[in-house]
Amino acid sequence: MNGILQELEARRGAARAGGGAARVAAQHAKGKLTARERVELLLDEGSFEEFDMFVAHRCTDFGMGDSRPAGDGVVTGWGTVNGRMVYVFSQDFTVFGGSLSETHAQKICKIMDMAMQNGAPVVGINDSGGARIQEGVASLAGYAEVFQRNVLASGVVPQISLIMGPCAGGAVYSPAMTDFIFMVKDSSYMFVTGPDVVKTVTNEVVSAEDLGGASTHTRKSSVADGAFENDVEALAEARRLIDFLPSSNREKPPVRPFFDDITRIEPSLDTLIPANANTPYDMRELIAKIADEGDFFEIQSEFARNILTGFIRLEGSTVGVVANQPLVLAGVLDIDSSRKAARFVRFCDAFEIPILTLVDVPGFMPGTAQEHGGVIKHGAKLLFAYGEATVPKVTVITRKAYGGAYDVMSSKHLRGDFNYAWPTAEIAVMGSKGAVEILYRGEAGDAEKVAARTRDYEARFANPFVAAERGFIDEVIMPRSTRARVCRAFASLRGKRLSNPWKKHDNIPL
Ligand code: HXC
Repeated sequence: MNGILQELEARRGAARAGGGAARVAAQHAKGKLTARERVELLLDEGSFEEFDMFVAHRCTDFGMGDSRPAGDGVVTGWGTVNGRMVYVFSQDFTVFGGSLSETHAQKICKIMDMAMQNGAPVVGINDSGGARIQEGVASLAGYAEVFQRNVLASGVVPQISLIMGPCAGGAVYSPAMTDFIFMVKDSSYMFVTGPDVVKTVTNEVVSAEDLGGASTHTRKSSVADGAFENDVEALAEARRLIDFLPSSNREKPPVRPFFDDITRIEPSLDTLIPANANTPYDMRELIAKIADEGDFFEIQSEFARNILTGFIRLEGSTVGVVANQPLVLAGVLDIDSSRKAARFVRFCDAFEIPILTLVDVPGFMPGTAQEHGGVIKHGAKLLFAYGEATVPKVTVITRKAYGGAYDVMSSKHLRGDFNYAWPTAEIAVMGSKGAVEILYRGEAGDAEKVAARTRDYEARFANPFVAAERGFIDEVIMPRSTRARVCRAFASLRGKRLSNPWKKHDNIPL
């Protein structure tokens, strides 16, 4: 008996050793943790239960039969994050460069199937040289099995990808279909083809960092949602994100203890809006003053900074926030900000997370670059996302809500449940200057007349009361009481039931 127990321990020890001490040292020398160290940091201490520790590949080509390490380059299993279950896979770069074989893929698929069946998020830690070259099409098939599960799991359980090493070729498409991607600065890369292939095909010379590093994907491409200094920070932030999310689409997000008065009054908000309508202010300040304990978990903070997206809690419950940011491009809606916010709104709706929309938007960005880039189609994504969302929706217009952007930003007409405005709100087809120029073109040379027309237009439209008279604004609220009003509004919507007509699926303008 003792001998059998010892054999089990010996086999476990060998599996835990991964690719051996030298390769582990090389991993550490690059500033990267090992697959197992990452799992330990992601999960609550001692909570990890491993699956398939002894799975080995079945390839015999290229001398592979002589090297069949236990685990086959990926550590899989489940554990808890602050007491809530999550499934995890973590690729082990020390074993065949973390490359994906048929059996490696089967291990990932097993935990994805269990996550969907049992209703818990999947966290994928990616550190891999891509398809296991020795296995050929068997490896490609393995990837496709994972992709198919990413699609089926989308909207069923949250899927989070941590990119902590190379991620090349088709390997990027599994993370791309998950809900959130976090990268580590200077040690993680995502590209369909690496710098060498780029050089051969297009003659461009580009570094891996420039082509597909964390800063490229969080600032330029928007493929990734966050970039962090090192593995430890990325894993800690993933835990923070998971805390905001429901375990599946069958459950509500967790309600956390909160220590913030829900009737908290913030007199400073009464002066947040500058006297000059064109002076910017930081919308983050409003978000912080509304949120429980001022805690805002921002998603895509470096991309399309003219719109803010992220999670807060109100009375301990998760709320998704979408807010125009007047500090950047005056908070205008454009291609990038529409895409960013639309995806966020759809995530919230898929997982029953209520949405708070804070509006200060001068309209859609004009110009050939935007029109030729398809701002119509991309803007429509956001319109569509808000229009189809059935979760509780509370909107606060702080200042400008002009033109189509007024409609788009969770207006009453898109089934907004509570549409509040501050007294400083200006709800109109366009700003007074532009309106007067069009309506009274003949008077353009007469500065006095133009000024009088502008004053008249402002008096009539640059306020929230015209919209409030029609019931498009439910109430004009004091800025200082925004947190209290918004908390009460969401509390009243806890029993909301709303569904869209039956359809196979919609046809959002992709
Ligand atoms: C098998 C691989 C491998 C792979 C790396 N290794 N990638 N083994 N299949 N895809 C092995 C190496 O042989 C090496 O083994 C060990 O992992 C570490 O690799 P190094 O090259 O020494 O590490 P490093 O210098 O850090 O470079 C990492 C790398 C590079 C950038 C990832 O290894 C690389 O370019 N690999 C190939 C990437 C690639 O082209 N993959 C296929 C993409 S196509 P030893 O024994 O020497 O330590 C694809 C299609 C999927 O993925 C399509 C799905 C639809």
